[in-house]
Amino acid sequence: MVYTIQAPAKLNRFLAVLGRRADGFHDLELVTTVLNGVPELTDTLSAEPGMELSLAISGPTGEGLVPDDSNLVLRAWHLLEEAAGHPLPAALHLEKRIPHGAGLGGGSSDAAAALRLGNQLFGLDLPDDLLLRQAARLGSDVPLFLLGGTVLGLGRGERVFPLRPIPLEPLLLVHPGLHVGTPSVYRALQSVGYPFPEALASLPAGAIPPWRNDLTGAALWVCPLLAEVREALRDSGGEPLLCGSGSCWVARYPTAAGRDAARTQIEGLGKPWSVWAV
Ligand code: C5P
Repeated sequence: MVYTIQAPAKLNRFLAVLGRRADGFHDLELVTTVLNGVPELTDTLSAEPGMELSLAISGPTGEGLVPDDSNLVLRAWHLLEEAAGHPLPAALHLEKRIPHGAGLGGGSSDAAAALRLGNQLFGLDLPDDLLLRQAARLGSDVPLFLLGGTVLGLGRGERVFPLRPIPLEPLLLVHPGLHVGTPSVYRALQSVGYPFPEALASLPAGAIPPWRNDLTGAALWVCPLLAEVREALRDSGGEPLLCGSGSCWVARYPTAAGRDAARTQIEGLGKPWSVWAV
């Protein structure tokens, strides 16, 4: 029997960098929405019990991805095997649609999907707190995908708490096809200076967090070409926000009609960009 699970992308509507920690990571405050129901931005992971563990990767953004030990799906599976205390032989198949290095959390979402899928497929019954701990070992963004919905992330982003859903405005996502490495963006904070901004806790209770990403200056410092997408989104009447550490941008619009007109305008530029309406 083949089990299949969806691995959606995410958007950070609020990303505050509060400071650099002794371990080199950064303390953050994040408000993230997992983008359920957007097939073009959802990976699919399926698994069938087999004689040995294998991973095949396909899909529009799967090209060049190698199923080696650095792959987050295989690393997640090995952590499950560690927790189960025995091998979990299965034929895994990952269908990739979320662009890589875009700030949409594709690899992290795949890893969370692998933890949930293996837990189900082999009836391991591992409790949520154990899965969350394993997720945090895989990456700062993995635990939020186990919760899904709208999530508050603290610490390096791995301490997650469910939030009441925040309705999404009409959105346009634009991916310029550039790959921006997350570690280099965090390192660049030292060159551009830390914002040390007001934290989320300073907002009135129940307020919708602002549209803000403190990694923007650092990402533009690493990859100045990103500014071209931001300008195009501004020219189309949108309010752009960098996705995570880039390279994708999201822009919000007052109305769906405005967003659709912006899409036509941006596609008309003839740039080698991918554009999605959400
Ligand atoms: O946890 P994750 O593997 O996703 O982090 C990738 C890199 O991003 C880290 O090695 C670190 O350089 C940087 N990072 C950070 N502070 C965070 C999250 C990530 O400095 N809160």
